[in-house]
Amino acid sequence: MEKFIVHGGKTLSGSVNISGSKNASLPILAATLLTREQCVIRRVPDVSDTNYMLQILQNLGAEVERASGNVVIRCEKLRGHEAPYDLVRKMRASVCVMGPLLARHNRADVSLPGGCVIGDRPIDLHLRGLQGLGAEARVEGGNVHLEARYGLSGSEIDMSGKHGATVLGTDNVMMAAVLAKGTTVITGAACEPEVVDLANFLNAMGAKIRGAGTPRIEIEGVAELGGVEHTVIPDRIEAGTFLVAGAIAAKDRITVNRVDPEHLSVVTDVLRRCGCPIEANGSSLTVGRAAKPVGANITTEPYPGFPTDMQAQMCSLFATTPGTSVVRDTIFPQRFMHAAEMKRMGADIEVTDGTAVIHGVERLSAAPVMASDLRASAALVLSALAAKGSTEISRVYHIDRGYEHIDEKLIGLGAEIERLPA
Ligand code: EPZ
Repeated sequence: MEKFIVHGGKTLSGSVNISGSKNASLPILAATLLTREQCVIRRVPDVSDTNYMLQILQNLGAEVERASGNVVIRCEKLRGHEAPYDLVRKMRASVCVMGPLLARHNRADVSLPGGCVIGDRPIDLHLRGLQGLGAEARVEGGNVHLEARYGLSGSEIDMSGKHGATVLGTDNVMMAAVLAKGTTVITGAACEPEVVDLANFLNAMGAKIRGAGTPRIEIEGVAELGGVEHTVIPDRIEAGTFLVAGAIAAKDRITVNRVDPEHLSVVTDVLRRCGCPIEANGSSLTVGRAAKPVGANITTEPYPGFPTDMQAQMCSLFATTPGTSVVRDTIFPQRFMHAAEMKRMGADIEVTDGTAVIHGVERLSAAPVMASDLRASAALVLSALAAKGSTEISRVYHIDRGYEHIDEKLIGLGAEIERLPA
């Protein structure tokens, strides 16, 4: 295992290039199961989650080549329809192979992902959707066995759940429906840009999908899909994370390049309301610290609402913003592992029932802290940037799951971070 030592107090300047989206890459890699032809996918970030997905696909028989962000993959000769526990337990997003495996084989055996520190991660909506297409689902021994004895048939599927839409659930049903007989209408669909990127990938393969990005998606089943080349959209959460880094520690301004500003407009709106100067210029955003910072009240919601994946990072900004800020996570109410660690650094943050009340303090101070999940860990790095002293962050493998070389990128902006063996 490795740890970071973040030497606080260094100011940031210059620019950083954002990588391709982890959360768009994962379902798109899974979608290559839907064709026997070669696919080339560009801007796949080199993070452990995409590596796990490629391992799962190779375990199924896919031929994979990977070089500098490009993945060449061919799922011609598959030797099974199983995603085993020892791979799935490492990354719950592996569940998004269910839909394509069902579409390809009329069968899928996928280990149940189990929970994770941000909360219970059920897949009841995934199963309800796939059953709506004609699959039978049986949960046994920690695995879910899906079988569509008579093939998949299109129908009207409501994917909405008590916490709103499900991103990977929408992806799974969409990937199963593209080869189903007849037309499928998904209502209560997730509208995230990553769902749209997957739909664009599938349509380039020959699928007939309309309405992606809205709550109602219509899919006309086709007989087969072909290989394509595709470039993944920018990672809007990585981009938002660096915007918050600038809001906390910019000397004057930092520039975040290779983003789609439209994908994170709700985040830039909040940062502007907090007093941060932000300008958009094509595929770049510049940000600086607020001259008169003010806190905010944030409630996470499905896209286009404020993303739960940016909640922890905002807590880092609010920890040293004068006044009181309130952050409520309606999607993952337990997603506050960062709060206890930030309190060790002197933050005044109290969490009850999925809501954090944060009273800004003058400055945080270094303390040994522990990463726990992807976004909470990024929040600890952000908190350490302006903290007094050198903060040691252990278990940084959590960060490497979803951020491509975050330490090197921050060092490129002027931060002082060491990556050491734990
Ligand atoms: C995706 O996870 C993202 N992961 C998550 O990002 C993100 O936090 C989440 O969407 C919400 O935006 C990927 O895209 C790989 P959901 P997903 O199904 O699809 C409940 C990160 O940090 N639900 O949209 O698994 C669920 O409990 C990761 O990059 C059910 O009740 O999340 C949650 O409350 C973390 N039943 C809500 O829906 C289901 O069958 C939204 O979850 C499925 C979900």
